[in-house]
Amino acid sequence: MAFELPPLPYAYDALAPYMSAETLEFHHDKHHNAYVVNGNNLVKGTGLEDKSLEDVVKASYKDEKLAGLFNNASQHWNHIEFWQWMKPNGGGAMPGELEKRVVSDFGSVDKFKEDFINAGVTQFGSGLVLAGCRRRRQAEGHQDPERREPGGARRDRAARLRRVGAFLLHRLPQPAA
Ligand SMILES: [Fe+2]
Repeated sequence: MAFELPPLPYAYDALAPYMSAETLEFHHDKHHNAYVVNGNNLVKGTGLEDKSLEDVVKASYKDEKLAGLFNNASQHWNHIEFWQWMKPNGGGAMPGELEKRVVSDFGSVDKFKEDFINAGVTQFGSGLVLAGCRRRRQAEGHQDPERREPGGARRDRAARLRRVGAFLLHRLPQPAA
């Protein structure tokens, strides 16, 4: 199916002063839209024209002939997610499960924020930083819980695999105090 640029889920000026209306307009209408237009051009003739965006990304991953399609389709997907991670008057406390993992891995939420911002400002290029979480191996020897506990461990494994949170940050000017 053709890729489509989704509307921004808020007004262009809704994230000021963190992101200006000009930034959002350019980023959404030009930058994101370029991935949509390029993706639609590059998918032609691949046999993937009727596939969903997710299926196109998966099918083109690590296929050298489809590298351009993968780059544009995956960036289209990334940006769809990106718009939804922000909202006017957003921020505030982390959901409890995420906070627990952040404190466990970084020591504190403040330390996480410090490390996260530092990773962004020292990243060459866009300053894009993502924080994700990996599946944790079990201390007792990396056993597959489904094998170890056949009667109910599927839920346990799913919980460990679940992504508890991700943040995406483009380098932003700090708002005036
Ligand atoms: Fe972008």
